[in-house]
Amino acid sequence: MMNIMKMTMITKISMIQNSIMACMILVGLAACDASKPHQETSSYPDADTPEFKQFSQQCSICHKPPMPNAHTALEWKHVVERMNLHKAQHGLEVMDKVEKTQVLTYLVMHSKQDK
Ligand code: HEC
Repeated sequence: MMNIMKMTMITKISMIQNSIMACMILVGLAACDASKPHQETSSYPDADTPEFKQFSQQCSICHKPPMPNAHTALEWKHVVERMNLHKAQHGLEVMDKVEKTQVLTYLVMHSKQDK
């Protein structure tokens, strides 16, 4: 009697394992399809740098991170300061000097050229 129960258990476990496997394969495929909308991210220049990572982390909390060519270097300085004020107003942790510098480095590197 015990052995039959054990057998049933083992069969059940392997069935569950099979469906987990099937699920993982499905999720894997879904993840592949879902990669298309993310291609937008790759339109940001230098998206594989630590500066970009800092920028996208800091600047995606409230809205879509802006394209760095939306402003000149000087304008970015003011924008980043203003965004830090927004953070403070929302009770969010403000960027420290290092984080701000990293974000600005990224933005300025690809900023709109002054005329
Ligand atoms: C706490 C929320 C918050 C975070 C975080 C934030 N923003 Fe903003 N952002 C806003 C709000 C609110 C506005 C609209 C009001 C304004 O322009 O100040 C805005 C508007 C903007 C604009 C459009 C206005 C303009 O001057 O062109 C840009 C560009 C921008 N943010 C860039 C950034 C960047 C870069 C970062 C990262 C350093 C960032 N934001 C992080 C809240 C935020």
